[in-house]
Amino acid sequence: MTISDPISYECVSETGSTNSDLLERIRKEGLSHTVVLRALRQTQGRGTRGRTWSGNVDCLMFSVAIPIGNNLQIMSGITLAIGAHVVLALRKRGINAEVKWPNDILLNGKKLAGILVESAKAPNHQYSLVIGIGFNLKIQNCSSDYGHASLSDVGLPTMDFDAQYWLSILVDGILESVREVNNCGLGPTVALWDKIMAYKNQAVLIFEEEEAPYEATLVGIDSKGHLLVRSDNGIKTLISGTISLRLKK
Ligand code: BTN
Repeated sequence: MTISDPISYECVSETGSTNSDLLERIRKEGLSHTVVLRALRQTQGRGTRGRTWSGNVDCLMFSVAIPIGNNLQIMSGITLAIGAHVVLALRKRGINAEVKWPNDILLNGKKLAGILVESAKAPNHQYSLVIGIGFNLKIQNCSSDYGHASLSDVGLPTMDFDAQYWLSILVDGILESVREVNNCGLGPTVALWDKIMAYKNQAVLIFEEEEAPYEATLVGIDSKGHLLVRSDNGIKTLISGTISLRLKK
């Protein structure tokens, strides 16, 4: 698999969900190359855990569809690699973002961006990833349990709110993360997370399905991208899906 050019860029004035649009296209027609779809307005945007993410031009909302053939291995941990590369791309531009496991992008402890990673199978049985990002350029009302941040909090010059600029930076970060996981597995991601993980070595509350929340200290991620926490019973490995966490106040 080669993650490279050509890339088609498309922009629509309004849609329900850019992720849903690309998933549907892949299921109907397949995907021959990477497609980036941006919507200026999203009315039925979807987030993780059944959350919604709708908005207007104050939020950069787009999805990237990347053909991965039959390389399903790449899916394991890819969401962590994408979060890490998004943070890296922002830090290179002076924005001191962090990633909260598994992939909320935080700025000063509040949510700056959300990432939704999905996949679809084409009629020719080839798979594609669909990676959707909602990135707050200015104050937005997107779903978050711990408040919203936006680029406007950083005091950037007005020109730096240029959505096209941030789009190309974030798309580059996404493509780099998929290339990296394809070529090297999750090793580089684990090393990156050590530097950019929100709440590392801090006390958090862990919420597991059908269990009372419990306190633990955030340790890091393991080689498979699972979360490592230390509680009274020692180090515990937690698998994404049914787990969520919150900083203990
Ligand atoms: C989250 O819950 O944090 C993930 C939010 C992802 C939102 C983006 S906006 C563009 C793309 N289209 C969608 O329907 N969702 C993603």
